[in-house]
Amino acid sequence: MTVAATPAARADRAAGVRAAPRFARGRAPFLVVAVAALLGGLWGALARLGLDVAAPATVIASHGALMSMGFLGTVIALERAVALKRRAAYAAPTLAAIGSVGLLVGLPFALWILAAGGLAFAITSAYMWHVRREAGIATMGVGGAAWMLASVCLALGVPISRLIPLVAAFLVLTIVGERLELSALTHPPAWSRVAFTGAAALVVVGAVVAVHWPPATVAAGIGLLALAAWLGVWDIAWRTVRRGGVTRYIAVALIAGYVWLAAGGITWVLVPDAPTMFAYDALIHTVFVGFVLSMIFAHELVIVPAVLGIALPFSRAFYAPLVLLHLSLAARIAGDVLGDVSVWQAAAATNVIAVLLFGAVTVASARGLLQPRTQPT
Ligand code: HEM
Repeated sequence: MTVAATPAARADRAAGVRAAPRFARGRAPFLVVAVAALLGGLWGALARLGLDVAAPATVIASHGALMSMGFLGTVIALERAVALKRRAAYAAPTLAAIGSVGLLVGLPFALWILAAGGLAFAITSAYMWHVRREAGIATMGVGGAAWMLASVCLALGVPISRLIPLVAAFLVLTIVGERLELSALTHPPAWSRVAFTGAAALVVVGAVVAVHWPPATVAAGIGLLALAAWLGVWDIAWRTVRRGGVTRYIAVALIAGYVWLAAGGITWVLVPDAPTMFAYDALIHTVFVGFVLSMIFAHELVIVPAVLGIALPFSRAFYAPLVLLHLSLAARIAGDVLGDVSVWQAAAATNVIAVLLFGAVTVASARGLLQPRTQPT
């Protein structure tokens, strides 16, 4: 996102229209750390599935923190810093990157460093709001505060199972804040802003209360459902999906993510206290894999060229990991519902394969090895 960008410019960007990029060498270390955190998180995930993958204890214990505050914290904060064009804004991605390395090597203060990253991110968002008083930016700022609070609670020893809604609030609000700004192009009625604010407030308040009282997860779940319904009605993805090429690909990934956001909301309402291992898995990954990773798959083709200056020509090959991710997640949740360990294990391991395949397609695109698709009219 760009602080001074017009809605039209941002819509172009969301639709995949890009200027020719120049590789930004200075930002490469962030990419290296983010990829390391992602790979460490995935390695830990395979071990958490019970597979014999000889993962170090640090990555097994830190899977959740590595994926959310580590990998996603670094890339989201970096994108914000690049948009803001202020040196001080790089404090958040720098701290998130140091904290990620700390988690990977088992540094005792790693969670406090991530918490400092969350604080820096919240301050950056507050500054952005000072520059441009828009509801979307305020929403992202609240997401930043949720990141900080979740990391502080983790560092103080609160079990991560109590913090799932708070970590989700960080990621969901940061992402939907951006979508809110782009939705201006569909001319939503004035009352829709009130509905959006109410839904986002339910997510945050439910998530904060759930740290002490897990049944409040129900309120956060209703908030997720309301946000999914809001995006279902007013997001521009419903218009752009009728176009072709990269524009349609991005819209398909967004819409699939919104379906999973609704599924997550329903899960949170039905099993807020996650009574079984399967319920816990579904409660977390409907939102974190179904919604959050789908958003990453959607936005990467736009964000990477803008942030790192690496051209990523679109090819239909990008659909392969996207489809694999959603089908394998559906199978994973079916395994959770049926309580079938082998279905759950195989499907969740396929989630990991989908992410690795997405990485491989990205590298192939960057190296010009794929048949590019031209921008649709
Ligand atoms: C891509 C494939 C993924 C796989 C195979 C996977 C696997 C797992 C497993 C097996 C667990 C333990 C579940 C349980 O105890 O019932 C877990 C927990 C968790 N996962 Fe994932 N995960 C994946 C992606 C993600 C992503 C993308 C995020 C965040 C953005 C995430 C965040 C978490 C969190 C916060 C926990 C709770 C950690 C804990 O209780 O220690 N996961 N994951």
